Formats: sequence, C-alpha cells, structure tokens
Amino acid sequence: MRFFRLLRILSTVGRHGLDEFIVGRGTAPVRLAFRVAFFWADRSGPRGKRLRVAFQELGPVFVKFGQLLSIRPDLVPTDITDELSKLQDEVPPFPADQVVATLDRAYGKSCTEVFRTLDLVPVASASVAQVHFAVLPDGREVAVKILRPGIVTTIDKDTSLLYAVAGLIERLHPLSDLLRAREVVSEFDKIIHDELDLLREASSMSTVRRNFEASAILYVPEVHFDWCTREAMVMERIDAIPVNDLEQIRAHGIDIAQLGRNGVEIFFTQVFRDGFFHADMHPGNIFVARDGRYCGVDYGIMGSLPEVDKNCLALIFIAFFKRDYKAVAVAHIDAGWVPPDTGVEEFEGAIRSVCEPIFDKPLKDIYFGKLLIRLFEVGRRFRMDIQPQLVLLQKTLLQVEGLGRHLDPNLDLRRAAQPILERWMNEQVGPRGLWNQLRREAPMWSKTLPQVPRLVHKILSDDAPGRIERAILRLEATQRRQTRILAAIAIVLGAMVAGFLLFRP
Ligand SMILES: Nc1ncnc2c1ncn2[C@@H]1O[C@H](COP(=O)(O)OP(=O)(O)O)[C@@H](O)[C@H]1O
Ligand SMILES: [Mg+2]
Repeated sequence: MRFFRLLRILSTVGRHGLDEFIVGRGTAPVRLAFRVAFFWADRSGPRGKRLRVAFQELGPVFVKFGQLLSIRPDLVPTDITDELSKLQDEVPPFPADQVVATLDRAYGKSCTEVFRTLDLVPVASASVAQVHFAVLPDGREVAVKILRPGIVTTIDKDTSLLYAVAGLIERLHPLSDLLRAREVVSEFDKIIHDELDLLREASSMSTVRRNFEASAILYVPEVHFDWCTREAMVMERIDAIPVNDLEQIRAHGIDIAQLGRNGVEIFFTQVFRDGFFHADMHPGNIFVARDGRYCGVDYGIMGSLPEVDKNCLALIFIAFFKRDYKAVAVAHIDAGWVPPDTGVEEFEGAIRSVCEPIFDKPLKDIYFGKLLIRLFEVGRRFRMDIQPQLVLLQKTLLQVEGLGRHLDPNLDLRRAAQPILERWMNEQVGPRGLWNQLRREAPMWSKTLPQVPRLVHKILSDDAPGRIERAILRLEATQRRQTRILAAIAIVLGAMVAGFLLFRP
C-alpha cells in the first residue's frame, strides 16, 4: 500500500515538473531521471502554482500540510506561500450509511436511540470531519461533528511519508539547517493529530465557553459531553449569520465597525488573559448572532502560551505599538528567545530596519501579523528559536486582522489592542499581580530555596566558560523575584499586625 502511495507521489512530482525542487548533493541523476521519464510534463507555469496543484491532487494531508507551509514565510519563499495559501480544504461528503455506521460504532448502540431525528444531508464537509444537524430526544437542536471514516489511517500513512521526505531533504538539501524539515513535519503531525480527536476538540470548546461565560461579545455553543467521543461530538446548534455575509449583518442593525474591534478584543483576551486561543479563525468558523455577539465554532486547532511567553509577548506588542525597538529587542533577550549574548544595539537596528518602513505606511496598509513575521525573520538571523505556538499566534493574528479589515477597512488594531494589553500588564505588575504570583509560586519556592547554596556551589565548582555569568544572571533574576515575594509577605504580615492592633476586641 505504502509503496503504491509513494509511486503516486513520485508520479505527481513528475507530472507537474516538480523535480526542480530536488536539489542538493548527488541529486542531479534523480532530476535527470525525472526529466526523461516525464519529458512531456508541462513545466511552463510558475513553480508555486504547480506545487499547489500537486498538493491538491495528493489529498487532504498534503492540502493541510501546504496550508501550514503557507504561513511560514520565514522558511518558504513568498511566491510559493502566496500560492499555497489558496489551498482549499474541500472534499465531497462521505455517504449517509457511513455517517450512521460511524455514529452507531461510537455510541455502541443505534444512533436512532440517541437522536430523535438526524439530518443525513451534511451542513459542511471537510477533509477531516463533516457536520450534520440533529435533534435530541428532549427536543434540543444540535450539530453533530463526525470524523471521516478511515481518516486516521490515511493521515498516519501520509505523515510517515512526509517524515521520510523530510529526512531526505535534511540529508541532501544545501540549506537543510535553515529548513528544519523534520521539525516542520512534526509540528504538522501534532496539529493534525489533535484535530483527529473530537473529544479533545469538545474539551477545548467547553474551556473557551467557560472563559467567555459572561462575555457580551462572544458566544460559544454548549458541548453535550454525554454524546462526545473521539469520533463524534455533539454541541448546541447555533443559528447565526456567517461573518462574511455583511448584507445580512447590516440588515440586523449590527454595528459592523464595532464588530471588527470586538474580534481584536476577543483574540487578545484569549491570548493574554487566558493563554488559550482559537487558532483557526478563518471566516468559515465565525458567525454573528442576531444580538451582535460573535459565535465561534471549530476548536480543533488551539494555541496555548505559558506565562513567561505571554509576558514577553505583551511587552513586545506594547513596545511595538510605541515603536520602541530597543524595548522589543530587550524583551526578546530577557525572555530567552534569543541567546543572552545577543548585542542589543545590533538587534535593535535590525528590527528597526524592517519595522520602520512598514510603520510609515498609512494605517490601513499596516498588518501587524505581517510585521510579526518580519520580526521572526530578523529573530531567526539572531538565532531565535521560534516556537510552534508563536507561529500559530502569528497566523491567527493575520486572520483576525484580515477579518477586522474585511468588516472595517479603517480598523486600527493598535487602538483596539493597546487598552487590553495595558490592562493586562497592570494586573501582572500591580499589587494584584504580585499576590497572584505569590500564590502561584510560594509552594515551589519553599521547595527550591533550601537547595540554592548547593546549586551555587555546584555551579562555581564547575568552571565551564560563561556558566558563572549565566548563573549570576539567573540568580539575580531569582533574587528580584524573592524580594518581591518577601515584600508581599511583609505587607500581608504588616496588615495582619495592624489589623490585630487596631481592631483588638
Ligand atoms: N454548533 C454549530 N451550529 C451550527 N452550525 C455548525 C455548528 N458547528 C459547525 N457548524 C457548521 O459546520 C461547518 C463546519 O464545522 P467545523 O467545526 O468548522 O468543521 P471543520 O473542522 O471541518 O471546518 C461550520 O462552518 C458551520 O457551518
Ligand atoms: Mg471549520
């Protein structure tokens, strides 16, 4: 089976004249073989387009992989990313009998017992899943998302082929260090495998629902966990307007410019307040309820950011908005995103030279998502290790901006985002932030503090160059935190003593 799949891939490469992508040591004979075997191939179109058509022909895994590459202009030339971003994830629906069979298997009983009615005509059908409307026995209207039969095996097979190709690229390609092919495939592998588990998606959806329980701007459908398995999920059916249908939105008297700003607010709130964001915000997943709230579906791809990255990112955004490139550079170094020996001035200069020309454009032409890509490109030159989560974030920011601009061409992302960021920063560094941090970290410190002398001794006796400096830097950072924690303890104790003295019965 795998052999035939490989043959099919090779013939697709040949037919579209993609042998020009096979470069590196000892590959000339391979190219020649392709040229001879596929002498009739049409090599006239642009290479990006030929690659896109080939991905499309090779099916869902390649389509999704191409989509992932399309958001990596730091790795792939822009003529190719432009083409790959046109890849559409559209496939014919799978037949009704397979819908029923999958549901019966998932629930261990006939799905006629689970649903009062099930509409066998799908609402939507994509490469991984398909959605049907249904009604529960108690009359509630639901949407049922069902995994495509056999998709797990298909994806497993194709990803293992992708790994093999990536391995070859790493061995042969002259720029293999920069391309990091296997790493890109493994990121893809993780994303696509997450999408294959609908129970996980249901949990993500319900988490975001909880995070936005009281929100006046986002509504997340309720998950009916009793009928959720890895292969099928059941959720409240929403009756809302697709976000692209501006005419209908307008007809309901909804303020469209406000909607644009709300989108930015939702994104920044998910990223900074919750550290858990919907990372697939294309228009097909976004609806607008008649009361003007957003309704978001499809929580298959989520991004999450740890506390340190959130801090650093917030600092970078704020500095960015103020065009303070030095602060941008310092935040990268402080977060450990670039090596500690990076020259601040040099890094600052490089950031300035990519950002300043963009900032000089009229507001409507500034895309912060694109700026972030440029920033990553600069970072890469300074040996920045770009985490997959940051790539997801940057991609989503581009989607959110695209959506915002679609709703309101004059959308000012800076104005919409800055108050959220500043509020969040204040909560982090103000007294409340201190208290939160103390509560979070106290148990850890009580465990690690006694070890400090031993660690210092170990580091000092280990005289590798640079280690002592780094250790001192780390210790200094630790000290600063400890001082803050001690200050907080002192304040709390002081307040208790004062309370005791003043209000003593
Ligand atoms: N809860 C829901 N209520 C109403 N329609 C839904 C619901 N969930 C999904 N849909 C419809 O099904 C489509 C596909 O669902 P989605 O979760 O985005 O699947 P995919 O992962 O295949 O993109 C959506 O664009 C929407 O039209
Ligand atoms: Mg979708």
